[in-house]
Amino acid sequence: MVNSFSPARAGALALGLAAALFAPTTLAQDAPPACPAPLPVGPEGIDFYTPPDSLPDADHGSIIWTRSYADGSATIAGGTNTLLLYTQEGIHGDTVATSGYMVVPDGDAPEGGWPVVTWAHGTTGIADQCAPTINDPSYDKDARDTLLAGWVSKGFAVVCTDYEGLGTPGDHPYLIGPSEGKAVLDIVRAARQYDTRIGSRVVISGHSQGGHAALWAASIAPDYTPELDVLSTIAFAPANSLETEVPLLSAVGNTTSLSGTVALIVRGLSIANASLDVVDILTKDAAALYPQTLTECSIDLDSNSSFGGVGANDLIAPGAKLTDVTTQLKDNDPTYLTGISQPVLVLQGSSDTTVFPFTTAAMVKNLVAGGVDITEQIFTGATHLSIIDVGASNATDYLVSVFSQ
Ligand SMILES: *[C@@H]1O[C@H](CO)[C@@H](O)[C@H](O)[C@H]1NC(C)=O
Ligand SMILES: *[C@@H]1O[C@H](CO)[C@@H](O)[C@H](O)[C@H]1NC(C)=O
Ligand SMILES: *[C@@H]1O[C@H](CO)[C@@H](O)[C@H](O)[C@H]1NC(C)=O
Ligand SMILES: *[C@@H]1O[C@H](CO)[C@@H](O)[C@H](O)[C@H]1NC(C)=O
Repeated sequence: MVNSFSPARAGALALGLAAALFAPTTLAQDAPPACPAPLPVGPEGIDFYTPPDSLPDADHGSIIWTRSYADGSATIAGGTNTLLLYTQEGIHGDTVATSGYMVVPDGDAPEGGWPVVTWAHGTTGIADQCAPTINDPSYDKDARDTLLAGWVSKGFAVVCTDYEGLGTPGDHPYLIGPSEGKAVLDIVRAARQYDTRIGSRVVISGHSQGGHAALWAASIAPDYTPELDVLSTIAFAPANSLETEVPLLSAVGNTTSLSGTVALIVRGLSIANASLDVVDILTKDAAALYPQTLTECSIDLDSNSSFGGVGANDLIAPGAKLTDVTTQLKDNDPTYLTGISQPVLVLQGSSDTTVFPFTTAAMVKNLVAGGVDITEQIFTGATHLSIIDVGASNATDYLVSVFSQ
């Protein structure tokens, strides 16, 4: 039977012949396999955010694992949403796991790959459950979802970091520029590793805390992610000049709308620098509420039963020595950034009472003096939140023109 010719044996011979024809190329060149090993799929539920003991032995911006984000809290319409856990260089120079998501438009990628926008979100808080990919307690959620869905519909991939320590182990260094900037850039690397149809042409954008993050990302990109071709940055009401504002709090009266954010700013400084003694600068009322900055999201911190019930003039202890605080705030102020070599568009509402028009104007003036190609558009009557809606069409036209060059 062994030597008899049967259809089955003919099939085996044909397969053997095919293997002989195709195998030598691979064997002779000792080349890596054409298809890299598939990326790990992460666990369901909240376990996704806890990385395995050993992180990838590769440069920052590497995928740890992924899973579908089709039904997530921050899912964007018009494309395929994927949740990512990826590495970034953390605030203390170590490699940390950061979460975020990516949205790839439906259809075929253009030549050169999908252009990509990396979006940096506005303040949600420091506690893990405040991460947009987990619960998305974002004040700007609706306007942001519409803006980003519009960008996906134009044929741009969109990637959105949660930021270092927000959702993932470790504390979130709120408004600490280098940490934010690295999170915003490394998610582009991770997205390109996950989907090789994403190209290297990048625009950085964000709102509020995210405008701050976007400007920082633009500044560090040439050194941190040199393979990315960052074409431009679009910053909506970027946080700036906090070192000039915090010392003025005692003079602004008993307004309460900023108190929750100020508490987060102080907490962010202490996360970045444990030697900074911040509790001593707070009043007794503020110090009593201060632990909530690690457990509550902005929406709750802003309520009357939390910092929303404490006046701006009752946050900082009278006579507190603020020099160390203001030094660190200035170190993280985008006003003094260098190394931004590509154009920047800033969109600012004239009625913004969170990021004040006069400080943004001063920031822009200083950056212009430093040689940055930066344009500010001021939208009359727009507030800190409405600027996304009101500025959306100008931002989108600008984005389309940048990517069509
Ligand atoms: C805030 O101050 C104004 C006048 O300075 C006063 O009328 C008002 O009651 C104060 N509000 C609170 C909540 O303390
Ligand atoms: C951290 O805070 C300490 C105490 O204020 C200060 O001496 C030190 O310079 C700060 N470090 C950084 C990196 O800002
Ligand atoms: C919070 O306090 C303000 C001013 O004191 C008041 O107008 C508002 O109704 C309070 N809100 C809630 C939800 O209690
Ligand atoms: C928005 O863009 C239009 C068209 O380029 C421009 O005329 C207008 O001045 C821009 N708006 C602002 C507030 O700069």
